[in-house]
Amino acid sequence: MSSLYRLIYTSFRKPECDEEEIDNILSACKKNNPGRNVTGVLLHSDKRFIQYIEGEKDEVLDLYELIKDDPRHTSVNQRNFEPIANRIFPSWEMGYKDVDKIAFDTDASSINEKTFNRLIKGELDFDDNAMRILQLFFKMA
Ligand SMILES: Cc1cc2nc3c(=O)[nH]c(=O)nc-3n(C[C@H](O)[C@H](O)[C@H](O)COP(=O)(O)O)c2cc1C
Repeated sequence: MSSLYRLIYTSFRKPECDEEEIDNILSACKKNNPGRNVTGVLLHSDKRFIQYIEGEKDEVLDLYELIKDDPRHTSVNQRNFEPIANRIFPSWEMGYKDVDKIAFDTDASSINEKTFNRLIKGELDFDDNAMRILQLFFKMA
């Protein structure tokens, strides 16, 4: 029986985690996530990461254990872990976006920017609205 879960964490990007290291992280995602049948999105700014991981429960937890100890980030904080009916990022192995490159040009997007910033700082819960904003950010970046 399949047990699909989502896990979301936030963390601080270490200053030594430069663009080259980000490329290395993405290569690891590309190499490992398809085998784990894990999808999701990794968003970052210059100082923070937020990653949404979805897949079979054990695969998600195993991957999170590995990521948690990665020296390229710190203060890794699990924000959400719960069963889901369907994937929301079914077609990406691990989408990756730099949130600093998002252009906020409308009132609506500036409201979403505020919400997103509160999410990534750990000030809000990951409810349905938060998921919607996460998807929106992924599409905008
Ligand atoms: C913010 C962040 C996100 C990461 N996400 C993933 C991921 O989704 N999949 C993955 O395999 N490794 C990810 N990694 C890298 C792992 O911590 C680890 O270095 C990598 O899986 C080792 O892969 P390898 O044994 O194939 O070299 C991430 C690292 C960081 C810092």
